[in-house]
Amino acid sequence: MAFHFIFCFFAPIFFSIFLYHLLRNSFKSNRRKPPLPPGTLGWPYIGETFQLYSQNPNVFFASKQQRYGSIFKTHILGCPCVMISSPEAAKFVLVTKSHLFKPTFPASKERMLGKQAIFFSQGQYHAKLRKLVLRAFMPDAIKSFVPTIESIAQHSLRSSEGRLVTAFHEMKTYTFNVALLSIFGEDQMLYSEDLKRCYYVLEKGYNSMPINLPGTLFNKSMKARKEIARILAKIISTRRRMKPDCNDLLESFMSDKEGLTDEQIADNIIGVIFAARDTTASVLTWIIKYLGENPSVLQAVTEEQEAIMRGRQEQKLSWEDTKKMPLTSRVIQETLRVASILSFTFREAVEDVEYEGYLIPKGWKVLPLFRNIHHSPEIFPGPEKFDPSRFEVAPKPNTFMPFGNGTHSCPGNELAKLEIMVLLHQLTTKYRWHIVGSSSGIQYGPFALPQNGLPIRLFRK
Ligand code: HEM
Repeated sequence: MAFHFIFCFFAPIFFSIFLYHLLRNSFKSNRRKPPLPPGTLGWPYIGETFQLYSQNPNVFFASKQQRYGSIFKTHILGCPCVMISSPEAAKFVLVTKSHLFKPTFPASKERMLGKQAIFFSQGQYHAKLRKLVLRAFMPDAIKSFVPTIESIAQHSLRSSEGRLVTAFHEMKTYTFNVALLSIFGEDQMLYSEDLKRCYYVLEKGYNSMPINLPGTLFNKSMKARKEIARILAKIISTRRRMKPDCNDLLESFMSDKEGLTDEQIADNIIGVIFAARDTTASVLTWIIKYLGENPSVLQAVTEEQEAIMRGRQEQKLSWEDTKKMPLTSRVIQETLRVASILSFTFREAVEDVEYEGYLIPKGWKVLPLFRNIHHSPEIFPGPEKFDPSRFEVAPKPNTFMPFGNGTHSCPGNELAKLEIMVLLHQLTTKYRWHIVGSSSGIQYGPFALPQNGLPIRLFRK
């Protein structure tokens, strides 16, 4: 009797639940997926790679955007991609729905930089690395480096005096030395020659085919990488023994309670050198070009810097001095916008995502096109003109992203701006320069750079 009652009572409930799930699943599978964004996928496998790389990539992006709007599909280097060029879409991918888009890099880059480096990581491990990196690069931590950065800048400029030099090459030496300072503190001098020797071999293979056979670029790079890891292991063990009082990146990595392994530290130190050096050197090279071409802006920056020079008398430049450079800061911002050295970044959809009525399928690459946003005439009128005064008014949110946005945005941006200001202080107060040959072309390696790295002649005033 009891059984009969229980059966009669629960059977209809179970049946209704069963029917509900059946109908829901069948509705789900019948529901039409939204369409893919407009655009073309080109030839099988090669897609539109040739169209992209046979010309200035920004011409490719701009012509697609003109034809299809701010979200379109294409197929590059064997991967289907969705490219996006509106501030709202970039925010969606990089900030609000960043958990649906993971960072993605070519396999060879991942192996060379080290698979445990911050760029490739996600979730808790990424959050932990970010905390450690930000701790070493926030204003309070980098303040004390200002006088040493100034000495490095003075040395770099002095070594170029009177010679025909490639601005990018000289700036790379400067930014490498500042990166080593931020990683190893005042100890940097002890290791810099060995680390540089290996790093120069390693970087030659960054864009090579991942063929690990004796004699290939990739093989040489991987060997150099192993040697860097050996040098770093020695530095780490010396620090463990000596326990010096430092506030640099290595210290931040080593003093974490949960502890990073030596391998994780090595991957992230190589990663930071990679992220810090060519980026900042490219921006400095563009500033030298734009100041050289805009005498009135150069004059105004020089006057601002000379006033600081007079105010400091015999003392070294200080952190407080770098806060008295509003015009120089606007020149840096405008250069970051016009040059947009990182034209775009890569993410990959971890599941099917719907955006503005379009489907971004799981596994497709998604490229927020920073440069297109920075060159939009609706956001920055007369976008091709170098005009620092436009930054007298703060740009609208999500329209200016030279350092990216969201969880993977640049933790080194304060250091980058600081080292640029310090170099400009020395350059404008003590030197004159002129550009040798034409300065109109752009090369990509992979960051946007004036043609041939901008050959210049530098003279003491
Ligand atoms: C002007 C120079 C620089 C520019 C334009 C720049 C730009 C960027 C951008 C756009 C990103 C985000 C990439 C993405 O979302 O996929 C990024 C990430 C990063 N940058 Fe910079 N950067 C510069 C200098 C530096 C410096 C000096 C350092 C270190 C001292 C640094 C360390 C990093 C690191 C570690 C990341 C990865 C962060 C993460 O994945 O969480 N960058 N940078």
